[in-house]
Amino acid sequence: MPNRPASNANNASIAVIGGGVIGLGVAWRLAQRGAAVQVFDRGAAGAGASHAAAGMLAACAEAEPGEEGLTALGRESQARWPAFAAELLDVSGVDVELRPEGTLVLALTADDQARLTHQLVFQQKLGLPLHWISAAETRRREPHLAGKLAGAVFSPEDTQVDNRKLVAALRVAAEAAGASINEYRAVKAISSRSGRVEGIVLADGTKVAADTVVLAAGAWARSIEGLEPELRPPVRPIKGQMLALRMDPAAPLLSHVLWAPGAYLVPRRDGRLLVGATVEEKGYDADLTAGGVLSLLEAAWRAVPAVEDLPIDEMWVGHRPGSRDDAPILGAGPLDGLIYATGHHRNGILLAPITADTIARLALDGTVDAAIRPFGIERFGSVAAAAE
Ligand code: FAD
Ligand code: GLY
Repeated sequence: MPNRPASNANNASIAVIGGGVIGLGVAWRLAQRGAAVQVFDRGAAGAGASHAAAGMLAACAEAEPGEEGLTALGRESQARWPAFAAELLDVSGVDVELRPEGTLVLALTADDQARLTHQLVFQQKLGLPLHWISAAETRRREPHLAGKLAGAVFSPEDTQVDNRKLVAALRVAAEAAGASINEYRAVKAISSRSGRVEGIVLADGTKVAADTVVLAAGAWARSIEGLEPELRPPVRPIKGQMLALRMDPAAPLLSHVLWAPGAYLVPRRDGRLLVGATVEEKGYDADLTAGGVLSLLEAAWRAVPAVEDLPIDEMWVGHRPGSRDDAPILGAGPLDGLIYATGHHRNGILLAPITADTIARLALDGTVDAAIRPFGIERFGSVAAAAE
């Protein structure tokens, strides 16, 4: 859907609802172009899913039948990551730790191997750079893996970043470019008149005028008032429990991101080993459960038995913004001046660079980049969008 561009980046006033990696990334790119950008978050910026995530950039290993469009978007964003990380380091001084080791998808048994091989055939048909490696090669790469294993799929281009450092870097970069970040300022509603946005209304009643409003409120995007039901993005919270163990940073148990049956393990440079994550339809429930943590730890232990000696550093819950088809909602809608940037579900860290670039272009130039064309809200139809 076309968007009427702000006449000139230097006088465009833009309100961004939500200060996660999506809102901050978009705000950074907009402010770099000279727009007057204000980000509003109901809490501390970056404390939502962007804080809870594992930081995997898994465009290849997570590719599934039926998600070819999402895989293409993920690959394009993955390709932008090295320059994005380098630019962030340059302007913010924060290294987001884009690591080169790649990902191993582990098969412990012949059954696991058969399942992975089936998936690999599909992934290779898409031209994705993954290949099977033997048990011996898998162990050479990761000596602490379980005694008995069948091999692994190696995905060299599925890397990782530290998502908490990413939040910090984006915040510094956005502010340095001139964006203002307003924390603990919840947005109650989007205001509009005659089919065009006028701005936003904060929970305390303050009205903020804006030519363009970017809705980037993650799993809460649907709760912002002022929109007809069919204009609210069909996004719901998908609960994820996760934990971090503490390794000796000088002798880490893993160097690759590891997908094991039942859990993924993500080693950080500071010695933390993330173990995630559950995928639960529990609304905004924020409880850690014995069953959730048990299943993650058991799966991690089966793959890397030595984790049993590691201290637990932290456990947490996050809420992924899941859309009806698990793909993001990117672009303008029927309400002039309103832009959607939400629904990134399991891939918001991966998709941060392409979302920031394309949404800023849309807001300032009215250009709908080909990469985001399939991801507009209109794909759901008004009836689908109206239903939760
Ligand atoms: P959020 O980071 O949730 O930001 C939304 C912001 O909106 C919040 O700060 C919130 O406070 C604010 N907000 C809400 N309501 C209002 C309001 N009324 N007014 C103002 N502000 C409001 N993705 C990957 O790419 N790789 C991974 O490895 C990965 N692992 C994950 C693991 C877990 C356990 C989880 C939960 C997610 C994971 N994800 C991963 C997904 C990724 O975290 C999300 O897709 C991404 O963070 C979404 O970013 P966001 O900015 O849209 O949402
Ligand atoms: N992408 C990993 C997760 O959402 O758990």
